[in-house]
Amino acid sequence: MAKAKTAFVCSDCGSDYHKWQGQCSDCGAWNTLSEIRLGSAKSTSRAPAGRSGFAGELAPARVLSEIDVSEVRRIPTGMAEFDRVLGGGLVPGSAILLGGNPGAGKSTLLLQACCGLASRMPALYVTGEESPQQIAMRAQRLSLPLDELKLMAETNVEAILAALDKHQPRLLVVDSIQVVYSEELSSAPGSVSQVRECAATLTRAAKQRGIVLLLVGHVTKDGSLAGPKVLEHMIDCSVLLESSDDQRFRTLRGQKNRFGAVNELGIFAMTEQGLREVRNPSAIFLERGEKQSSGSVVMVVWEGTRPLLVEIQALVDDSPLGNPRRLAVGLEQNRLAMLLAILHRHGGLQVGDQDVFANVVGGVRVLETSVDLALLLAIVSSFRDRPLPRDLVVFGEVGLAGEIRPVPSGQERLSEAAKHGFARAIVPRGNAPKTAPRGMEVHAVATLGEALALDF
Ligand code: TYD
Ligand code: MG
Repeated sequence: MAKAKTAFVCSDCGSDYHKWQGQCSDCGAWNTLSEIRLGSAKSTSRAPAGRSGFAGELAPARVLSEIDVSEVRRIPTGMAEFDRVLGGGLVPGSAILLGGNPGAGKSTLLLQACCGLASRMPALYVTGEESPQQIAMRAQRLSLPLDELKLMAETNVEAILAALDKHQPRLLVVDSIQVVYSEELSSAPGSVSQVRECAATLTRAAKQRGIVLLLVGHVTKDGSLAGPKVLEHMIDCSVLLESSDDQRFRTLRGQKNRFGAVNELGIFAMTEQGLREVRNPSAIFLERGEKQSSGSVVMVVWEGTRPLLVEIQALVDDSPLGNPRRLAVGLEQNRLAMLLAILHRHGGLQVGDQDVFANVVGGVRVLETSVDLALLLAIVSSFRDRPLPRDLVVFGEVGLAGEIRPVPSGQERLSEAAKHGFARAIVPRGNAPKTAPRGMEVHAVATLGEALALDF
């Protein structure tokens, strides 16, 4: 029997080291290394005879063109927003990590998805946190189909593997990975070594059997403590369920996906009947009062594969401080400072003695540069105390020379705005459509000066 190996692992970033050191050289965190025992020969011998090794039998080496890509089947979960973030559905033999703060709704989301899926494929839900009674009650209250999904309360990883042999599910949910432990390790459940080893064991089992593995992982506020960080290397897909500032809504965001695009956004509303998909998210982020006030404008962001209309607000006010504040909520702080410099240089507007606050309504985070022009127009509108028209939509990147640069998917952004009744648009010249959407007047601008000269 091979000797058990040990390694030192950083609990923040998951890097390995042969020996202990005070600071992780990868992420720079102090005192985050702890010793873990890597799986012994005994734990890997669970694979069926002749199928040892990472992905089962020794695969033949082939050139790319010989590989049948239609092998990647996808299983739709029945929840379109969940599928969108996964890149089209669940892939057999893949491991998916669903992260989020406690109370975000991870268990609810998976219970809803699994109850629906269980009629199409055998599914096993392993719960380590709630009792089976609690879960059954929740399923009943949410009027989910109760007859197909198998439920098991277990936290021992060896017992979970035995249950896989017995029930032969095609879908396995483990809620949550932090409470699962292996008898072969001496450390406590939830410690880095337990989380890492148990996740590796389960992922290996999922790959060998070609089943879909869904792991739930809690993230603490500071994102640390044996959190999903150490798991990100071994899983195929990592999605994060976040509650926005508005507690009713939850956003599901792809962070890593070996089978699709990342940064897809799925939006759910938490209701009495559990998580409901929000099919038209633009509508919820655009609830505005009747009166149009200065400093507000609507823009179109492109999240993953679809457009989203959000309102950008700015407030510019005389600063009582010698060093005026620049605060951006939902936007990049540094970008705001840069845009103010561009505004001074190329727009002739000096806000050096003013506090500038910028906000994205609805708690969405906008990291795209297409927000630049909308943000600058909102700032100018607030500074001059002149409202922009309610039916105006704006997008475009602003360069350091004051030029307005085109952004991807301009036509689709305009169509989305037109669908929601916007009748005017300011867009980069490079995004000028050949034919504007029906009922929409499109102003294509090449410089910041041109945009500021437009008078509505
Ligand atoms: P839960 O799925 O248990 O969260 P997690 O597994 O991520 O810790 O959901 C917890 C929250 O969701 C809880 O605060 C109550 C709320 N909730 C509703 O508002 N409506 C519902 O129908 C359900 C099931 C939960
Ligand atoms: Mg839970």
